Amino acid sequence: MSTKLNPKFLRNQGYINGKWIDAKSGERFMVYNPADGIALTNVADMGADETKDAIAAAHAAFPAWAKRTAGERSKILRKWFELIVQNADDLAALLTAEQGKPITEARGEVIYGASFIEWFAEEAKRIYGDVIPSTGADRRFIVLKQPIGVVGAITPWNFPSAMITRKVAPALAAGCTAVVKPAEDTPLSALALAVLAEEAGIPPGVFNLIPTSTPAPVGEALTNDTRVRKISFTGSTAVGKILYQQAAQNITKVSLELGGNAPFLVFDDADIDAAVEGALASKYRNAGQTCVCANRFYVQDGIHNEFAQKLADKTAALIVGRGDAPGVQIGPLINAGAIAKVERLMGDAKAKGANIITGGGKHDQGDLYYTPTVITNVTADMEIANTEIFGPVSALRRFSTEEEAIALANDTPFGLAAYFFARDMGRVWRVMEGLESGIVAVNTGLFTSEVAPFGGVKQSGIGREGSKYGIEEYVEIKNVCLGGL
Ligand code: SIN
Repeated sequence: MSTKLNPKFLRNQGYINGKWIDAKSGERFMVYNPADGIALTNVADMGADETKDAIAAAHAAFPAWAKRTAGERSKILRKWFELIVQNADDLAALLTAEQGKPITEARGEVIYGASFIEWFAEEAKRIYGDVIPSTGADRRFIVLKQPIGVVGAITPWNFPSAMITRKVAPALAAGCTAVVKPAEDTPLSALALAVLAEEAGIPPGVFNLIPTSTPAPVGEALTNDTRVRKISFTGSTAVGKILYQQAAQNITKVSLELGGNAPFLVFDDADIDAAVEGALASKYRNAGQTCVCANRFYVQDGIHNEFAQKLADKTAALIVGRGDAPGVQIGPLINAGAIAKVERLMGDAKAKGANIITGGGKHDQGDLYYTPTVITNVTADMEIANTEIFGPVSALRRFSTEEEAIALANDTPFGLAAYFFARDMGRVWRVMEGLESGIVAVNTGLFTSEVAPFGGVKQSGIGREGSKYGIEEYVEIKNVCLGGL
């Protein structure tokens, strides 16, 4: 039996220029609860036409929003933050209903998402420029930081709330306006955020939302339009590459938060119990469906078996079920494609000799549930060793030396997050510096926070979100040379 959703937040229209509207075609698409496949609501299915309208609205709203003082923008964002926190339970219920994650995680995401709005409401007041010591007595150099303009944001289904606020809050704080396309599996949390944005007093046109079942035309409309000065995307590397190419036509700036393939190294000198806890936290959050989930475990020979067994024992004890049921730790995967992928990777691993210690198949809870799994004897020729799993499977390999571990960890085109557990301080420094990754978590499985920069190197992306660096993605630097003094 699913939780009752607050109708105030269950919206099914797009939000453009401060108005709730249907698609011009009249088309709608259904949003399903992955826990049971039951339809939640059908949402306006928008496309390129509505995207152009939203861009026009954002473009028209930009000058007035940019001219407001930072303090004024800050107050409105702060109000939005407060409203989200006040309504966190309803927003979490909606998030679990459309995305499937356990309700405690959903609530955590809503609060985490709100924290970006609070943080950037404060940062709005700290977008400092510079005065550069001059090269001539008759001139001065002044650096201004100004909002880029209209931002197109494309966000994923695995964090339907927080990935929107992580982009929109710094954009709006800097004085930009935004057109957001939420993921087709999870548009409802986005629409609920717009309800509260309106209530907070965010002016018409400043924040627009385009729900769609067909992302490509919306992405093209955003990248083709010269009024859009910035594209911020979180999603797969494959789609990120297409958007990057499209954005190149107009030299539109991009921030790309793309796929990961996070290594998780456990050294002989690690606190094994802490490493197991870290592994559980990193691997099984959101049923393994985050870009920063531990994806490749490398465990040093001396502790491999003990770590594997302890991890398997704790993994087997995880409670699987629908996200709105009390105590559940692992919900369903997002859709049939996601479960098919995990099954394919596991089939290949089994055929090539992986050893299943726990789990290893679908869960009897329903079609989209996969049993939390630990496998060992993983080898480089298995697809699971080189693919972002996005499911609750821990795949373990052994290593012998520190050099080998670093080389294995870096042997991937990706570089978003990396984890390792070790206690020797020399090793901690060497490994931390040696890993090719935008984020390194040492002796912890959780690291995300609004105060710290999030982003990857190599094919994991461009730019950083959150933290004092996040707002830099939404400002242009203007050098003013003031002569004739
Ligand atoms: C992601 O998976 O991209 C986001 C994870 C996070 O912010 O914690």
